[in-house]
Amino acid sequence: MSSFNVGVIGIGDISDVYFDNLKLFDIVRVLGCAGRDLGKAEAKAAQHGIPRAYRDAMALIADPDIDIILNLTHPAVHAELNLAALAAGKHVYSEKPLAASFADGQRIMALAKDKGLRVGCAPDTFLGGRLQACRKLIDDGVIGQVTAASAFAVSHGMEWFHPNPAFVYQQDCGPLLDIGPYYVTALLSLLGTVESGCALSNRAFAQRTMHYGPQQGETFEVGVDTHISGNLAFSNGAVATIVTSFDVWDSELPRLEIYGTKGTLCLRDVDPCDGPNLFGGTLLLRTESNYRWKNMPRQTPGSDWIEVESRHPFNSVSHARNSRGIGLVDMAYAIRDQRPERASGAMALHALEVMDKLINSARSRTFFTTETRFERPAALPIDFPASEG
Ligand SMILES: NC(=O)c1ccc[n+]([C@@H]2O[C@H](COP(=O)([O-])OP(=O)(O)OC[C@H]3O[C@@H](n4cnc5c(N)ncnc54)[C@H](O)[C@@H]3O)[C@@H](O)[C@H]2O)c1
Repeated sequence: MSSFNVGVIGIGDISDVYFDNLKLFDIVRVLGCAGRDLGKAEAKAAQHGIPRAYRDAMALIADPDIDIILNLTHPAVHAELNLAALAAGKHVYSEKPLAASFADGQRIMALAKDKGLRVGCAPDTFLGGRLQACRKLIDDGVIGQVTAASAFAVSHGMEWFHPNPAFVYQQDCGPLLDIGPYYVTALLSLLGTVESGCALSNRAFAQRTMHYGPQQGETFEVGVDTHISGNLAFSNGAVATIVTSFDVWDSELPRLEIYGTKGTLCLRDVDPCDGPNLFGGTLLLRTESNYRWKNMPRQTPGSDWIEVESRHPFNSVSHARNSRGIGLVDMAYAIRDQRPERASGAMALHALEVMDKLINSARSRTFFTTETRFERPAALPIDFPASEG
């Protein structure tokens, strides 16, 4: 098959980015879209030149011309729609998380296996230039053996920039399942499988107020803990700290750091959103021969953190921009070429298991071990001019 027809379910905030990006790749063609309202689907189809609009998700899933379902709905309905799509014989690429619970994620992957279908899942930001540059530096041994990592995704919540934020404050979402997948997936793609972990959590507010969009000023109930602090032990011996929160006004914490026996990689928090939820951005490298802190012996005059240029060719798309959808494009190539997809359902299920068990660990105050495993995705080819100091 030379190209795949994609049907998109969910035509909200994030859908335009996908529609725009998928137009850049001939391997996929968006044939139709659906939400919960035919009029809105028709308007979205007209906006993006999409041939077909459907009254609801099931009508789209029933279209025999569609090969891959792209699920851009809310986390609470990801499982139900991913399962319906697989049952109808379609490959699935889902927005994160794969499902709202580990048990539902397992059902999705079991059905895909039975049917011989592919499941891919966001986030695909680990395919962006910055995290692929991290990957290359680690694989090349530049920071030595990785022994630890830190991941911090702290903010004061989505009600400041999202027109419909209440869904992330419900029982089946919260900061770990909403923003956490970017950080957990980044760690998994760099370090491999998590063996065990534990967490603690609390919530600062029982109600929150919308500060953006048409519902500004309205309040809604919070049904989930909004600050969760976890620890993870990886199979390769590394340990990581992960904090996700909607309760923090501001912070000087970095977004992601990887600590090795020979150096540190840092995704610094330059911009409030400058984390592994973006495709490009600054990547700093500190080794024995360069230094960051004053009063330390300077071995290479003029050196500080090295700022690594992080770019690579994925067709013609620059990874400094929002490239959401390249994981789906990679999955389409993977189906055609009969190779594993990089943003795989197996990695997403492991990420979901880790997040689900962190949340339960915080509730039960117990440690957990994991049961799922995945193949670390192949690195992308990279054009890598590492500039020395
Ligand atoms: N908004 C962002 O910045 C952003 C970024 C990255 C990922 N995401 C993820 O994308 C997904 C969607 O988020 P969003 O911000 O676009 O939400 P949104 O509320 O703006 O849009 C969700 C869409 O899903 C549709 N929908 C919900 N239930 C449905 C059902 N049963 N059948 C058919 N359609 C249904 C809604 O009608 C709406 O069109 C979530 O998983 C979110 O985590 C969002």
